[in-house]
Amino acid sequence: MATVLAIETSCDETAAAVVKKRHILSNIVASQIAIHRPYGGVVPEVASRQHVESINDVIAAALSQARVDWDQIDGIAVTSAPGLVGALLVGLTAAKTLAMLHHKPLIGVHHLEGHIHASYLQNPDLSPPFLCLLVSGGHTSLIKVEDCGQYQTLGQTRDDAAGEAFDKVARLLDLGYPGGPAIDLIAKNGNPQAFPLPEGKISLPEGGYHPYDSSFSGLKTAVLRLVETHRRQANAVPVADVAASFQLTVARALTRRTINCALNYGLSTIAVGGGVAANSILREQLLASAQQHHLQVLFPPINLCTDNAAMIACAGAEHLDRGHTSPLTLGALSRMPISQVMDLYQV
Ligand code: KG4
Ligand code: ZN
Repeated sequence: MATVLAIETSCDETAAAVVKKRHILSNIVASQIAIHRPYGGVVPEVASRQHVESINDVIAAALSQARVDWDQIDGIAVTSAPGLVGALLVGLTAAKTLAMLHHKPLIGVHHLEGHIHASYLQNPDLSPPFLCLLVSGGHTSLIKVEDCGQYQTLGQTRDDAAGEAFDKVARLLDLGYPGGPAIDLIAKNGNPQAFPLPEGKISLPEGGYHPYDSSFSGLKTAVLRLVETHRRQANAVPVADVAASFQLTVARALTRRTINCALNYGLSTIAVGGGVAANSILREQLLASAQQHHLQVLFPPINLCTDNAAMIACAGAEHLDRGHTSPLTLGALSRMPISQVMDLYQV
């Protein structure tokens, strides 16, 4: 059972963790949310600089909290794709330096494969095949997990990711950044039936709609029109009602696609990951619908849904156990389909 130190710097969290197979020994995250909040979103150059500031302390804290010394570390995992290239390079450079210095293998990890592995940390006995609904600020995907390194994307967003839609709608409603938690909170005081909003279906050339793909840009525009209409008529925008209606529309759209996908592919377990998995109404809708269809749905705790290095370490340990390691020439990639994860390894 490999013990792996992992580093994650793909976006705005500087994170390091030590995981022994599927058990967390330490999990440190230095969040940059407060730094990016005045800009209303992540500023890539600011994120890279902040990673440089924080990374040494975060790695030191992960090692000391895990109470391991270098002899007990079998490999160093690092997120190498996808993400902000400048931000990824900070983590990659740190990981390569430590790998060389301590003569440890380097294991590049695909960020989405990391999110999938958060479910193994919560449920160490979970085994493929299962369906993963991955909903974060950058991704909205339905992924069939066949084995470690083997994934099939069955559905995805054609435009904005679910978290991005939450962030943009929150900005329209002056709710601040990040938008998801703010909408979740204020929606508790709103009527989710107040405004019927479009779910965003993808038409197929042969007629009908794509069963698993989604689109959130039309929904965002519908919210914008609603807000503009109220402002034009000098009416106060009913923020809580708009937030609740938007949130329910997203939750229903994701739930419908996920349950259909699980049923059509004969997958009885659904693992959810990414920051939007924290959403209370998505959890409610998905759990209720899964129960109706006798499917199992797994939500990792919120600190494992949002970006962290424990999930990267877990994926890294699985690959290391299979003899998958990366060359020290490994680069950072802003985009990479999850079906290509094995390109990260020299097997
Ligand atoms: O997975 P994550 O931490 O980072 C990325 O890899 O993108 O996800 C961040 C996203 C943000 O868009 C944030 O608004 C959203 O997750 N989020 C939520 C909630 N908490 C975080 N969205 C809806 N409801 C929430 N409670
Ligand atoms: Zn993420």
